[in-house]
Amino acid sequence: MTMNPGSLKGVDLRVEIDRLRKERNAVILAHYYQRPELQDIADFVGDSLDLSRKAQATDADVIAFCGVRFMAQTAKILSPQKIVVLPDMDAGCSLEDSCPPEQFAAFRAAHPDHIALTYINCSTEVKALSDIIVTSSSAEKILSLIPPEQKIIFGPDRNLGGYLVRKTGRDMLLWPGVCIVHEAFSETELMKLKAQNPSAPVVAHPECPAVILDHADYVGSTRGILEYANAFGGDTLIVATEPHIIHQMEKAMPGKRFIGAPGADGNCNCNICPYMALNTMEKLYVALRDLEPRIEIEEGLRLSAKKSLDAMLAMASGTVGQGNLGPARVTGD
Ligand code: 13P
Ligand code: SF4
Repeated sequence: MTMNPGSLKGVDLRVEIDRLRKERNAVILAHYYQRPELQDIADFVGDSLDLSRKAQATDADVIAFCGVRFMAQTAKILSPQKIVVLPDMDAGCSLEDSCPPEQFAAFRAAHPDHIALTYINCSTEVKALSDIIVTSSSAEKILSLIPPEQKIIFGPDRNLGGYLVRKTGRDMLLWPGVCIVHEAFSETELMKLKAQNPSAPVVAHPECPAVILDHADYVGSTRGILEYANAFGGDTLIVATEPHIIHQMEKAMPGKRFIGAPGADGNCNCNICPYMALNTMEKLYVALRDLEPRIEIEEGLRLSAKKSLDAMLAMASGTVGQGNLGPARVTGD
């Protein structure tokens, strides 16, 4: 989207966003990786699972989604009657890019006896080709509900998949996708930082490669990381995930110190998600004003993708157990 910044001169963005939120009966949802000002103006900030649940449950007419495109598409899949706007439609995700639907369909077809357990960081088309979606906070629980003899394809994140294989001992066929942001942490720099802060635990997102996770005291979703930090009795933590989460940590725990884990250059700025960073207050204001850019999904595709998301929501909340899980669904049915 191109925008003339001059055209917004004199607009008090906070006031105008508030006014439009009421006028449109809109809810603003934000991920923890968003700029601080977007987190602060949101009605709700959460991890991918929390945000999916909120999008499903809200009675607002409009969802303004401050996150990346697959998150806003998830909101639309679950709440098709609502208008869902994304401040910048170019806010993609490297994991989504690493799993083109045609290649994923061919991979599934080559392994017909496997079900596809798929990370939510993927396109709507890949969701439609999957059996069960997981997020980083629901993956372990959902995996435990799948009969042990059932063969599983896990995509697109090979780091999250590898972490689950190591943690649960469950063998899975991994799709080779990665998150460019979490791949950028440096083990050498992290070890230096640990040596300088020997009593600070390392908290890490499972999208980090194993060499980083091996140094972590806690591995979990963004919400899990916040909860661990809250419960931790000490005063300093090293955070190996996208550094904007530190804003929320500092707000919730003003007495503690959070050090972003470094990239190869020794600072953590290379770990800012370039896709999340595309959303700004200006673009959120324009999205609420114009109700554009809007997420639209063809109905047949939406219904196919919804099945795998519904399976996740039911299994994550405990309403579906192992006995209710049907056989592997045929690709895209
Ligand atoms: P969470 O579900 O942990 O918030 O992760 C989302 C994400 O995109 C991490 O890169
Ligand atoms: Fe995608 Fe990585 Fe950005 Fe998360 S941090 S949205 S996985 S590119």
